Amino acid sequence: MDHFQLRDGVMHAEDVPLTLIAEAVGTPVYVYSTATIVRHARVFREALAKVSSGPDGPLICYAVKANPNAAVLATLAREGLGADVVSGGELLRAIRAGMDPAKIVFSGVGKTADEMALALKHEIGQFNLESEPEAEMLSEVAQALGVTAPVAFRINPDVDAGTHAKISTGKSENKFGIAYHRAGHAYARARELPGLSVRGVAVHIGSQLTDLAPLETAFTKIGELIAHLRAAGHDIVTADLGGGLGVPYDPALPLPPSPAAYGEMVARVTADWGVRLMFEPGRLIVANAGALISRVIRVKEGASDPFVIVDAAMNDLMRPALYDAWHDIRAIVPRQKSFSANVVGPVCESGDTFATGRSMDAVEAGDLVGFMTAGAYAATMASTYNSRPLTAEVMVDGNNMAVVRERLPIEALIAADSLPPWLE
Ligand code: LLP
Repeated sequence: MDHFQLRDGVMHAEDVPLTLIAEAVGTPVYVYSTATIVRHARVFREALAKVSSGPDGPLICYAVKANPNAAVLATLAREGLGADVVSGGELLRAIRAGMDPAKIVFSGVGKTADEMALALKHEIGQFNLESEPEAEMLSEVAQALGVTAPVAFRINPDVDAGTHAKISTGKSENKFGIAYHRAGHAYARARELPGLSVRGVAVHIGSQLTDLAPLETAFTKIGELIAHLRAAGHDIVTADLGGGLGVPYDPALPLPPSPAAYGEMVARVTADWGVRLMFEPGRLIVANAGALISRVIRVKEGASDPFVIVDAAMNDLMRPALYDAWHDIRAIVPRQKSFSANVVGPVCESGDTFATGRSMDAVEAGDLVGFMTAGAYAATMASTYNSRPLTAEVMVDGNNMAVVRERLPIEALIAADSLPPWLE
C-alpha cells in the first residue's frame, strides 16, 4: 500500500499534488512519502511480533543500499530501525542519520581494512563475514585497535531464490557467503582468531523474492547448522535472516507473499533456535514509498506504437535496462484516455527504454508521468551518463514537502574533471 493517490484528477503524494513538486523543483524528480516508509517499517515489525527472539525482540536493520537518502535514514532511525551497510560510506550515512551503531550490521564480500577499522571505531553491532581470509583480516585490524569484533558468518545455503539471476545471491556459484559444507571449518578457524568474538550466523539468498519456499528451505538449513555449531561448542546467539521479500510492481501479477505470511513462516521455522533474530529488509520498506516524476518532452511516431520521450532516462532509473524490470507508468493528470506506447528516455542507446507496447494513460508533450514503485534501488543507482545531472529528491510528509537532495548541477560535474598539465 502507498500514499500516491489521485485527488480531484491530480496524483498526490500524501497531501501534496505532484504537479506542484514538478513546478517547484523541475523534472525528473524522485518523490518519497514519509507515511508509506513509516507504515512499511511498522507493518514489518508487527509481522514479526510472534517470532521468538529473546528479551529485546528482533532487530530490524534496514538495508541502506535500497535508498540511502539522509531523510529516509533519519525517518527509519526514528522508527527505531538499525542499518545493514555494505561500505564505509553507508556506515557513515547511517550514523550521521542518527542510527544507533549497536544496531548496525556490516555485510559485503569486499570490506577493506580501512572500512573494518572505521566500523570498529564506531563500535557497530555485528560484522557479517563472507570468507576465512576476511575473518583473518578483521581479527588483525581489531587486535591492532585493541578491541574484539562481534561477528557472524554469512552462509551460502545453495538455494535457488527463483528471482532474476542478477539479484540471486544464495546459489553455490554466487560470490556470496561461506559454502554450507565449509561452515564448520570457518567457525573453528574463527574461534582461534584473537580479534574476533563469534556470535551468529547470517543468510541472504536474493532480492525481490515472490515465493516463501526458497526462504523456508534456506532458513531450515540455517537452523540445522546452528544445532551443529552448538554441538561443536560455538555460542550462537544471533541469526540474521537477511532481506529479500518482494513487493508488487505490476498490478497484473499475483501479489508477493505478505509480511504477515513471511513472519508466520519465520516464527514457525525458528521457534526453537534460541537466538536473537535479525532482518535486513530494503525494498519492502521503501520501494512503494517512491515515484520518479518525469515530463514528456515529445511524442514521436513509431513503427507500431508511438514513442513517448520523457525527460527521465536509464541513468535516472536503471532497473528496466539492467533487470528488464517493470515499473507502472501513470499520468499525473490523467486525460481519461489510454493508448499503447513505448516509453523511452533521451539517452543514446536502445536500452534506454522504460516500457515497450505498454497499455497506459494517454499522454502528450508537456504532460507529467510517474514511474511508480521507485523508492528502492532507483535514485541510488543513478549515474551521470550522457552528462545528465543527478536527479533531485523530494520528501513529503502530510502537506509538507522538502528537497532532500538538490539536483547536482552540470557545472559541478564539469568542475570535478581536471586537465593534465600537458593539455592546460
Ligand atoms: N541484505 C543483503 C546482504 C543484501 O545483499 C540485500 C540486497 C539486502 C539485505 C536487501 O534486500 P531487499 O530486502 O531489498 O530485497 N538493485 C537490485 C537489487 C539488489 C539487491 C542487493 N542486495 C534491484 O534493483 O532489483
